Amino acid sequence: MPAKPLLLAIDQGTTSSRAIVFDRAARIVALAQAEFPQLYPADGWVEHNAEAIWSTTLETARQALAEAEAKGGRVAAIGVTNQRETTLVWERDGGKSIHNAIVWQDRRTADHCARLNREGAEDMIRARTGLLLDPYFSATKIAWILDHVDDARRAAEAGRLAFGTVDSFLIWRLTGGRVHATDATNAARTSLFDINRNEWDDELLALFGVPRSLLPAVLDCAADFGETDPALFGRPIPIRGVAGDQQAAAIGQACFAPGAIKSTYGTGCFVLTHTGDQFILSKNNLLSTIACRLDGQTSYAIEGSIFVAGAAVQWLRDGLGIIETAGESETLARSIPDNRGVYLVPAFTGLGAPHWAPEARGLICGLTRASGPAELARAALESVVYQTTDLLAAIEADGVKPDALRVDGGMTANAWLMQFLADLLELPVERPEVMETTALGAAFLAGLKTGLYGSTDDVAAIWRRAARFEPRMSEGERARLIEGWRKAVRRALA
Ligand code: G3P
Repeated sequence: MPAKPLLLAIDQGTTSSRAIVFDRAARIVALAQAEFPQLYPADGWVEHNAEAIWSTTLETARQALAEAEAKGGRVAAIGVTNQRETTLVWERDGGKSIHNAIVWQDRRTADHCARLNREGAEDMIRARTGLLLDPYFSATKIAWILDHVDDARRAAEAGRLAFGTVDSFLIWRLTGGRVHATDATNAARTSLFDINRNEWDDELLALFGVPRSLLPAVLDCAADFGETDPALFGRPIPIRGVAGDQQAAAIGQACFAPGAIKSTYGTGCFVLTHTGDQFILSKNNLLSTIACRLDGQTSYAIEGSIFVAGAAVQWLRDGLGIIETAGESETLARSIPDNRGVYLVPAFTGLGAPHWAPEARGLICGLTRASGPAELARAALESVVYQTTDLLAAIEADGVKPDALRVDGGMTANAWLMQFLADLLELPVERPEVMETTALGAAFLAGLKTGLYGSTDDVAAIWRRAARFEPRMSEGERARLIEGWRKAVRRALA
């Protein structure tokens, strides 16, 4: 009997690299994970060492692959998903990165964005890319690297350098430098890609000062991204799926129809609403982006992006030292009956949607002599919910009225938090059986290309709900909590 076909998903995230092997029914056969260091060289700067990204990816992929195949299956293809926007520039000869990766959260190019804004560039950028002018996206990060690394601009113009988001960098390394490609969802996050025409845009390249020779080819999400170098896993394995992690999560949540909506709680929180084959420009400071491109057909989404979700819990652990494990935040938060008037606005790296204030910084307010670790933990967890509430309000103002929100990511294991979310949103919150939706989405894409799944309907048939949280908070209580949050945000923005 031939070995059972399996799919290996590589999920290269902001704080860790993960590798998960799934079988056709989306059951997890093996999982490996490795954290790597976050580098904060200056206020608002966030970097990753490119070799740390690569070594943790390779190590976890090898581990998961070996464990899964020891159980009798055989990995038929790889899907890659990744932290988006994070920017790498490397030498085509040898593959060495010329600077640390500049992470999506990094704000160092705020002045560059402000200058372009003053020059009136934002409308054109919005119309073509669906994005706002913000340091979040890759274009100004690429320009920064070219302008700050010795000789880089000249080397780029001479065609000696390559740019990529993390997917592209990993594909380059996995294929031994043979493939320089990305997918449409990742390209859509650079500010250089026209999402109407599905092409790199020469005017945008000129505006941001990025030479075209740096850019990867842009493929569908389920496509032929080459084979891995046989030296890495003992045999070549086809890479057949790629999507940015938030789009992959939407696929893993089977959000394929217009109106379907999901919210992922990782380092940040990202709400994506599918808008079908329509590119709809948000009027409420949300992003318009590519949800997926399959068989040359592009589907679009409206996205609300907030920069700090799980990162707030990480800060309680690593910054304040008031908890040892993320799980303790829930115990602490539940130990008090309410927030006692304490709010945290976690603008550690500015505020994303719907405020887009790169210069804003974090704020805690409402402290009394009785406030302690429980109030801080509660305020940190609640802040994630309040931010989602702001996003959903903007999405509704854009004309989308969801009837339930599908959630995923580490924090959604916290049932108390999910109930609070349903209460504040006044919307049912649904948690799926497979909570590893990001990796699952990448596996689904690879499975679609290899024929393990015939269509997205096959994929949607696998999605199963494990829990549903119904709103039950009184309107008065809800309004009071939201008013406290809005006041705190106004102070952080002041
Ligand atoms: O846009 C940034 C996003 O892709 C990062 O996702 O899961 O690493 O927080 P995550």
